[in-house]
Amino acid sequence: MAQGSQTLKFALFGSPVRHSLSPCIHALFAEQAGLDASYTAIECSEEFLAREVQRLADEPGGRGCNITLPLKHRAFELASGTSERARRAGAVNTLRFDSPSNWAGDNTDGVGLVCDLTENLEVELTGRRICVLGAGGAAAGILYDLLQQAPDMLTVYNRTAERARELARLHSGLGAIAHAQSHDPSATQPFDLVINATSAGHARKLPPISRNLFAPGGICYDLNYGRTSSVLRDWCTENDIAFRDGLGMLVEQAAESFRIWTGFEPETAPVIEVLRGEPGPTPNT
Ligand code: ATR
Repeated sequence: MAQGSQTLKFALFGSPVRHSLSPCIHALFAEQAGLDASYTAIECSEEFLAREVQRLADEPGGRGCNITLPLKHRAFELASGTSERARRAGAVNTLRFDSPSNWAGDNTDGVGLVCDLTENLEVELTGRRICVLGAGGAAAGILYDLLQQAPDMLTVYNRTAERARELARLHSGLGAIAHAQSHDPSATQPFDLVINATSAGHARKLPPISRNLFAPGGICYDLNYGRTSSVLRDWCTENDIAFRDGLGMLVEQAAESFRIWTGFEPETAPVIEVLRGEPGPTPNT
């Protein structure tokens, strides 16, 4: 740990954030980097986000923050400049303070997902057929990076067709993207990868899913993890479909934020192991 240097300060703003794993993840990253850093989860409403972020940016050592639900759109408005992926999503989950009044906005959710799929889980995306269930904020945050992988087709299904149509429109020109309504997801060729980006799991409900959505060997990836993904996990087990939850994505998107703030690229595998409570190497300090 660096001695005598200023503590770097980071925070997560959102609601609810009480049970967030991000402070633990970033503490492990800081340990790996040998940085003296603090990362605090702060419960915040949309009304007070600007004030709270400004308070952090004004603090000695204040370097940046994450923003989670339901504040990512507001964070987008607050950013001084934004990356293309953030503009396509219309949402920011990472602000880097280049000065107290200059906040660079990015969205690391899609990079986190793609990294977890391709590097941790070794799932090929290029040339594959991908289905995204849901067209809310979570879906918006991942489409740009999925399309960068040049899938054969990416189809967005949503209960409310208009939202799926709008998301597909915002991403047109980036690759093969289509939209459809969720009431008839089986009227299509099956998919190699089905990604659940709905919030149905929060109400312990199954997203609109059916067995014939999946090509032989097709995988189901849930952006959720823990109890929120249990209904879908159980459905996949019953239907003999390989299931992956979003815990790896959570760690990977955090790693990308950490890199944006500090330039240090954390090792993610030991952190994922710690969070899963599996025995394994502890982060290399
Ligand atoms: P988030 O930011 O988590 O994506 P959101 O923007 O409110 O939250 O979007 C939630 C998504 O989950 C939407 O696509 C929603 O579908 P609608 O646009 O039709 O509302 C979808 N969703 C939530 N519960 C669902 C359910 N029980 N069945 C199908 N889709 C559901």
